[in-house]
Amino acid sequence: MKFVSVVGARPEFVQAAPVSWALRKAHQEILVHTGQHYDYAMSQAFFDELDVPAPDYNLEVGSGTHARQTAAMLIGMEDVLLKEQPDAVIVRGDTNSTVAGALAASKLGIDIVHIEAGERSFARSMPEEQNRIIADHLAGRCFCVSSKSAANLAAEGIFEGVYVTGDVMLDASLHYRAIAREKSNVLERLRLTPEKYSLVTIHRANNTDDPERLRNIVEALNAVGEQIVFPVHPRTRNALRSIDAVFAGHVLLTEPAGYYDMMVLEENARLIATDSGGVQREAYYFARPCITLRDETEWTETVEAGWNLLVGADCRKIVDAWHTFQPPAEHPPVLGDGTAAKKIAEILGE
Ligand code: UD1
Ligand code: UDP
Repeated sequence: MKFVSVVGARPEFVQAAPVSWALRKAHQEILVHTGQHYDYAMSQAFFDELDVPAPDYNLEVGSGTHARQTAAMLIGMEDVLLKEQPDAVIVRGDTNSTVAGALAASKLGIDIVHIEAGERSFARSMPEEQNRIIADHLAGRCFCVSSKSAANLAAEGIFEGVYVTGDVMLDASLHYRAIAREKSNVLERLRLTPEKYSLVTIHRANNTDDPERLRNIVEALNAVGEQIVFPVHPRTRNALRSIDAVFAGHVLLTEPAGYYDMMVLEENARLIATDSGGVQREAYYFARPCITLRDETEWTETVEAGWNLLVGADCRKIVDAWHTFQPPAEHPPVLGDGTAAKKIAEILGE
């Protein structure tokens, strides 16, 4: 079979890697990069480190408002799909690249495969929630990380073509952690001692675009008094500039981390504080306590397991949790067993 696979934003490069290896054993895959992320550290760095094949097309849409960015992707995707005539289009997650890939395919009557389907934060104002709802409802096959995501789909009337395979990001994490330990010297470079620092990432629109929330988070980071490493997403860099954020000496801001460095930073952190979906899950895969700087999360499995605590953007809650949050001894495999990509490729071949 011939698949067109769509990627565009940082997490999608990670999600694409294991699926591409598994799929290409028996099928043809044409990879389309929408160009949503384009800085070296947000895009090419992942192609250099992960064994994701080079994209066959780059639509080079760049940044823009939601409408402009998604519209440019739709036009580019339609051209590619008309030329390639694939049997199905694969989209993943919840970005604007996801929704554009799904919509372009749907209008041309091409089957859609959605990986990481059925995630819901139930916050309808989140652009990601809108994207994933549309992708799920257009897709003929939905691959879910857990039975909870399948139940979310069932609650919206989607029963056919739903498979629970586990999280492909776990496949990537398991595959790359040993390679990352060998290749990354980030701890030496940043003079970090394992378990003596915490790792922070922030990029969610409702944190970066709300000055009050962002100020509260900065205030909390300044108040914790423990070494922090904070690789800064470009969206957040711009937002921090616009509020003239000033950080205490224990907060080390860096460029966005490469994937190997990020694996090592996560694995050795005492605590991870994030609003990222991928980083919440990876914290779980490395059995690191995670506090989530959001009011809700799609990744409730990690919260229910006791390893992830929702603290929103409340300075006092963040600081309290920083010093007191203690996950339990149990660490069940709530998001699969690291063989999701293999299962997805097998099902797609049927
Ligand atoms: C996007 C996804 C989000 C995902 C995140 C992963 C949507 C709606 N959001 O959010 O779900 O969690 O990617 O990181 O698709 N920028 C650069 N260089 C880049 C990329 C972005 O400078 O290479 C800056 C631009 O100012 C841009 C801003 O970051 O306007 C936001 O980028 P965008 O891709 O629109 O959304 P993200 O916040 O990255
Ligand atoms: N990531 C990375 N460097 C960073 C921040 C994140 O390599 O500085 C990786 C992270 O390990 C995970 C993925 O990018 O694999 C998550 O992407 P991101 O946080 O941008 O988006 P989200 O998962 O929230 O959609």
